[in-house]
Amino acid sequence: MTVRKVGVAGCGLMGSGIAQVAAASGLTVVVREVESRFLESGFGRIDASLAKFVEKGRLSAGEKDAIRGRLSATTEMAALADCDLVVEAIVEDLETKKAFFRELGSLASARTIFASNTSSFPIGEMANSSGRPDRFVGLHFFNPVPLMKLVEVVRAEKTSEETLATARAFAESLGKAPVLARDTPGFLVNRLLVPYLLEAIRMLERGDATREDLDLAMKFGCGHPMGPIELLDYVGLDTTLSIVEGWHRRFPEEKLFEPPALLREMVGKKLLGRKTGRGFYEWEGDRKK
Ligand code: 3HC
Repeated sequence: MTVRKVGVAGCGLMGSGIAQVAAASGLTVVVREVESRFLESGFGRIDASLAKFVEKGRLSAGEKDAIRGRLSATTEMAALADCDLVVEAIVEDLETKKAFFRELGSLASARTIFASNTSSFPIGEMANSSGRPDRFVGLHFFNPVPLMKLVEVVRAEKTSEETLATARAFAESLGKAPVLARDTPGFLVNRLLVPYLLEAIRMLERGDATREDLDLAMKFGCGHPMGPIELLDYVGLDTTLSIVEGWHRRFPEEKLFEPPALLREMVGKKLLGRKTGRGFYEWEGDRKK
């Protein structure tokens, strides 16, 4: 099946990025949020990102306008009903996501494929709530979506071959590189990345090194674009804590998944990183001070 019209549910950091890259690839995109103020801030983010690409000569002003013309915003669930594919990027809460897919399942066309961008929950659980587990897949994008090449395509127990092939082809049509993952905690990237980030926090707690030296070590020692402490701030400390708390609840015996005390403490103080202007570092917009 060829995807021509895409629905994106949620216009936060991930949803707005997914909508942007889909529209940039020539697809018609409808973005649904629960309140129009979230659409306004998400579309503001899309505009800023597209303006950056124009500034760098990667897009012409005409192309930017054409991309914007392919994007529409709504608070109506019914506007997603005739999409070929709906990608969900709403709040990371399993019950909210299951309720969303239950409702979407009752009104969407039978041919519509559902995908979740979750980074923490089992795809299979949401698939079962949707009433169409064969037409359900994980599509996990990375932050910042317009720049990061990877998409994890997650196969749940009942995902059909056709759904999987459509999801892969969709990711490729966005100019992304898809990798196939099983429906296991963290899929591929976060299963490797999150324990590494947590260990960096434990190293700080133990006083093994400064935040600057930990970051420099991984940038210059391993060629990473950002060191672990900067990346924690960039992704959001609350996001990492929520991922690891979910795993810890499901696998309490696994030491790697234990949230470090410092991480809980910082989230408790709203030191979330880039999004609140302060985490391990201070931030001005997208830049570490
Ligand atoms: N749209 C358009 N342009 C953007 C942008 C966006 N969304 N975000 C950043 N840019 C621009 C910057 O403004 C900058 O422009 P400038 O050169 O004019 O200042 C340019 O892109 C390059 O940015 P930087 O100078 O900061 O240079 P970098 O080469 O470091 O690139 C980066 C930025 C791509 C973010 C890079 O630092 C990087 O790859 N960092 C690691 C990100 C990462 O690991 N992401 C995955 C997180 S894990 C995840 O998402 C999973 C989830 O489940 C938790």
